Amino acid sequence: MKAGTNMTIAGKIVYVLLLLTITMVMRSAGNNSSVLVMTVGNSSVLTCPLKGNITMLRWTITPKAGGLCTLVYRVDMNMTHRTTCSDNINWTFRAGLPPALEIRQVGIAQEGNYSCEFSSTEGNFHKMYHLTVLAPPRLSLSCDEQGSPVCEAAAGKPPAQLLWVPERSSTADEKCHDNGTVTVLSKFTACSTNVTNVTTCIVSHPAGNWSQTIACCPSEKINTNVFLYACSITCVLMIITLLAVIYYFKLHSDRSCHKTKPPEIAPIHSQQDDTMEVEPYTTYVQKENVIYNSVSDLTVGQNLPQNLCPGT
Ligand SMILES: *[C@@H]1O[C@H](CO)[C@@H](O)[C@H](O)[C@H]1NC(C)=O
Ligand SMILES: *[C@@H]1O[C@H](CO)[C@@H](O)[C@H](O)[C@H]1NC(C)=O
Ligand SMILES: *[C@@H]1O[C@H](CO)[C@@H](O)[C@H](O)[C@H]1NC(C)=O
Ligand SMILES: *[C@@H]1O[C@H](CO)[C@@H](O)[C@H](O)[C@H]1NC(C)=O
Ligand SMILES: *[C@@H]1O[C@H](CO)[C@@H](O)[C@H](O)[C@H]1NC(C)=O
Repeated sequence: MKAGTNMTIAGKIVYVLLLLTITMVMRSAGNNSSVLVMTVGNSSVLTCPLKGNITMLRWTITPKAGGLCTLVYRVDMNMTHRTTCSDNINWTFRAGLPPALEIRQVGIAQEGNYSCEFSSTEGNFHKMYHLTVLAPPRLSLSCDEQGSPVCEAAAGKPPAQLLWVPERSSTADEKCHDNGTVTVLSKFTACSTNVTNVTTCIVSHPAGNWSQTIACCPSEKINTNVFLYACSITCVLMIITLLAVIYYFKLHSDRSCHKTKPPEIAPIHSQQDDTMEVEPYTTYVQKENVIYNSVSDLTVGQNLPQNLCPGT
């Protein structure tokens, strides 16, 4: 009985010690580095947890893009010095306190690690901030040509989550931009037959939640299809009519040509001249024929007698 109580007491002590250790570890980790989340365009003041009478304070910034930047403050001379840092990062002076670091209208480019170090009567200390910058997406909801709603969350960081109410199977297309933002486009995978007119697109993002509602006319789809069919049928009919007209005129003109053509009374030369004036193509054919004819004439004139001689 007594041994059992001792055991439970020992267990409790161990448990408490374990908890204490965990909290201490967590606290020291939390003191040295912390995550800072800001939304594009917002401003923030970063402070170093100062101890004792400080002599020197320094911020070292390592942005994800771009070079390292440092800001140094010397207490004894009340003097600040900075290397090439972004214009919207600077010291901010506070009455009776060492200056703090101010980030005005933060941009995605300012994302990175912000480390502060200071020397004081109690020693040297440092603290790290991991800055993450959120870009809220721009929500737009529209109806496509098929009468289905299309939801777009443009230029969000991180990419937004899109949801549909009422729920429907959809595909989300992601397009990454150079600055680290992502545009998400959600469309329905299949159009259901029992579509409710009103659809809501919900954008869920760490920078906030938004929703927009739209009523797409599902009959619009049928209308467009009917319109398309009508259009294509008209087009086909028009082409057929045109071809028929062309064919008719061609026939007609050929006949009239034959009619007006003098039937072999005119000499060959004059006929050639006439065609030359009218159609170059015909002339070419005619000339070819003339050459052929002359050649055949020649052959007839030279060879035929020899060939025909034995016969005759
Ligand atoms: C800090 O400096 C002030 C004077 O500026 C002095 O009165 C105070 O004792 C100092 N504190 C420590 C802990 O040295
Ligand atoms: C910031 O610090 C973390 C860990 O301390 C490191 O993994 C990361 O690469 C650093 N980022 C930059 C931009 O230096
Ligand atoms: C240090 O200088 C800043 C301007 O650079 C000034 O606003 C501030 O009052 C000064 N602080 C002291 C203690 O002199
Ligand atoms: C659509 O049809 C499904 C079953 O096919 C049914 O469960 C659902 O309630 C219907 N939705 C509407 C809005 O009629
Ligand atoms: C967005 O909505 C979710 C629940 O749907 C909630 O947990 C979250 O805190 C909301 N975020 C913001 C920024 O309001």
